[in-house]
Amino acid sequence: MTDIDSETLERLRRGAMEAATHAYAPYSKFYVGAALLFEDGAIFTGCNVENMSYGLTSCAERNALFRAISERGAGPRIRAIAVANRNGAASPPCGACRQVMSEFVTADAVVCFPGANGPETRTFAEIFPCNFVLETER
Ligand code: THU
Repeated sequence: MTDIDSETLERLRRGAMEAATHAYAPYSKFYVGAALLFEDGAIFTGCNVENMSYGLTSCAERNALFRAISERGAGPRIRAIAVANRNGAASPPCGACRQVMSEFVTADAVVCFPGANGPETRTFAEIFPCNFVLETER
């Protein structure tokens, strides 16, 4: 499924779990972390940041991505995404994060997340088929 070695994927999972320790989630008490591995080998992490208005909450995956782009631009694409939570629950990336990340992933990008029956690794294409692509002119 992927040529990324298992050690690197494990490092990514640990990075996601470490990021989850910074989560600001006093409302849901669901503490999420994400780690993104880019084409050039760089890893960026993020955690969820909630807000008392609820709707302004920002997910771990998008925070990791926006952090990476803010720090060095949108050049290198994402090869692997790891999501973790401190609640011992399943947490695949939400639909909004899938759409946002879809603009920045490689064709063979993989996603590691806690599934209902333990750790899962899927291709990004598998978890997000038929992504919206803007066509401005026809
Ligand atoms: N959350 C994430 O950080 N990533 C996801 O993909 C799904 C949900 C956060 C948002 C909110 O702070 C908490 O988990 C409960 O929904």
